[in-house]
Amino acid sequence: QGAQKGGYASFMAKEIHEQASAVADTLRGRIEDGKLQLDEMKIDEAVLRTIDKIVVVACGTAANAGAVVKYAIEHWCRIPVEVELAHEFRYRDPVVTEKTLVVAISQSGETMDTLMAVRHAQEQGAKVVAICNTRGSTIPREADAALYLHVGPEIAVASTKAYLGQIAACFLLGLFLAQVRGNLYPDEIAQQMEDLSAIPEKIQEVLDSSDQVERLALEMKDATSVLFLGRHVGYPTAMEGALKLKEIAYIHAEGFAAGELKHGPIALVDEGQPVFVIVPSPGGRDSLHSKVVSNIQEVRARGARTLVIAEEGDEAVLPYADEVIRYPRTRALFAPLLTVIPLQIFSCELATAKGLDVDQPRNLAKSVTVE
Ligand code: G6P
Repeated sequence: QGAQKGGYASFMAKEIHEQASAVADTLRGRIEDGKLQLDEMKIDEAVLRTIDKIVVVACGTAANAGAVVKYAIEHWCRIPVEVELAHEFRYRDPVVTEKTLVVAISQSGETMDTLMAVRHAQEQGAKVVAICNTRGSTIPREADAALYLHVGPEIAVASTKAYLGQIAACFLLGLFLAQVRGNLYPDEIAQQMEDLSAIPEKIQEVLDSSDQVERLALEMKDATSVLFLGRHVGYPTAMEGALKLKEIAYIHAEGFAAGELKHGPIALVDEGQPVFVIVPSPGGRDSLHSKVVSNIQEVRARGARTLVIAEEGDEAVLPYADEVIRYPRTRALFAPLLTVIPLQIFSCELATAKGLDVDQPRNLAKSVTVE
């Protein structure tokens, strides 16, 4: 098995380090002359033009991927997007019609809760697109259309490269919908696609500078609680960072929307509490950047140790950051493909330092095929 791990200590470490090529594989062959070719989108374009709501159903890491792409699809396509845990969806009598597009995200394609949500949606007349990794699995077979990630088999129970592949595939879906429905001009789509195509190289840059996070993980191996804050697409990234740490390092971790801090979570902060903060680009949306910088300041003032994930060249975070972890510049919506990587590495290295079985965490299964 050592050889299969390609020299890494775990499959998870190997899969994290494969993410540049994984995302390149998800994008490959789907962009031609700036135009999106999604031959697998077998749903009639006339039907796609009538869609008035999208519901993303998923569990675990796949649900965090869904939470990221909600921001992108609403922005590009002006269609309301709900993201719902598959097991909650079915039991609350959701409003689903023939004009609803359900996007089922599942690495394995076998998660029972997600499959049941798909069946429930189809019974109400909705069309279903599956975003899956495992060829021929049940969810893509039952769906009306399936977009595969092409990231290769994921062995580690905690999902990493499939998460990035899910986000990238959903971006393709969102841009495709915008193309079909005429929400974006062709040159806008071409520009987005060009920036998306530059992401694998940037992922590699993040991976090549992982020493700092590896050192932090060793230093923090006895931590008993870690908080993660983010805003806009940084919020699901915070959730995913916390999930990874719970899953494989068994450390109490919580992800919060940074704006919610003053409504409760800040009460948790006292001397030495580690807090990761995912900071949006200073060049991004209105005052979001300065608001998140204020949040860093607020937790620091209460004794937190601030571990700040900030864009290259962002100087504003320096006075309040105990550590600054840099990510390359990209579009705000694409940043989650970069900012989550230090968090994945942190959990993986920390769990490894604790001597835990990183690939097979206690009590968890790679694919949950029971309800
Ligand atoms: C399990 C795995 C998670 C995964 C979730 C959804 O809980 O441990 O890593 O995110 O299932 O799996 P799916 O195959 O549907 O993406």
